[in-house]
Amino acid sequence: MDIAILGGTGKEGAGLAARWAAAGHAIVIGSRDAGRARAKAAELAARTMTATIGGASNADAARQGEVVVLALPAAGLAQTLPEVREGCRGKVVVSTAVPLTFGGPRLFTPPPAGSSAEEAQALLPEARVVAAFHHIAAHELSETTHAIECDLLLCGADAAAKETVAELGRSMGLRPIDVGALSNAGPLEGITAVLATINRRYKLKNSGIKITGL
Ligand SMILES: NC(=O)c1ccc[n+]([C@@H]2O[C@H](COP(=O)([O-])OP(=O)(O)OC[C@H]3O[C@@H](n4cnc5c(N)ncnc54)[C@H](OP(=O)(O)O)[C@@H]3O)[C@@H](O)[C@H]2O)c1
Repeated sequence: MDIAILGGTGKEGAGLAARWAAAGHAIVIGSRDAGRARAKAAELAARTMTATIGGASNADAARQGEVVVLALPAAGLAQTLPEVREGCRGKVVVSTAVPLTFGGPRLFTPPPAGSSAEEAQALLPEARVVAAFHHIAAHELSETTHAIECDLLLCGADAAAKETVAELGRSMGLRPIDVGALSNAGPLEGITAVLATINRRYKLKNSGIKITGL
């Protein structure tokens, strides 16, 4: 599958790119600066020994991808998404964004829409937004030689879009778990605040979550 990763120059997007490239997908890294995207693509291609990673501006990357992944800071969605709206029309858009504010009174600071994924859906009304990958730490993704010890919790309004994202998760060895409508994105994003707190308290980089009883 052709996957565009907006903000793929960052830790989370680059980790997803490395895992998916290793699984045989074609990747376009997106950035506010096309040159920076191309440089990150070349670095990842060399590291993963795959020739299927390119780089482009966020808007061009969105046009090229069959699936578009938002690996941007939550605070950057309002500015970035209007310029990629055309390229995302009708497509599966995966929101990994988590609205965290470090150093303030509250770590989890969701937007008025309730979650970053719902904010993304409002800004991209013709896209099929699925919230996923919030609990898969960048550190865990980047170590491509070992299996990821975490379930892939995902939610969204469109069943076919969720199955596409579930399949992308399976392709990197994850067990996908459908947690229902996009209105559950807030609780999913909030779990990342808990994981970030666990990481800090126990000096970890990669705490994760697994569902029992399934
Ligand atoms: N890191 C993790 O372990 C982790 C785990 C789960 C979920 N997430 C979520 O995944 C998303 C990306 O995380 P990250 O750690 O990779 O973030 P990051 O490194 O801070 O940012 C990713 C990329 O977004 C672009 N960017 C930065 N500020 C921006 C702005 N104001 N507007 C538009 N683009 C901007 C930058 O790319 P250019 O400068 O090249 O445009 C940057 O390389 C976040 O929403 C985070 O909550 C992260």
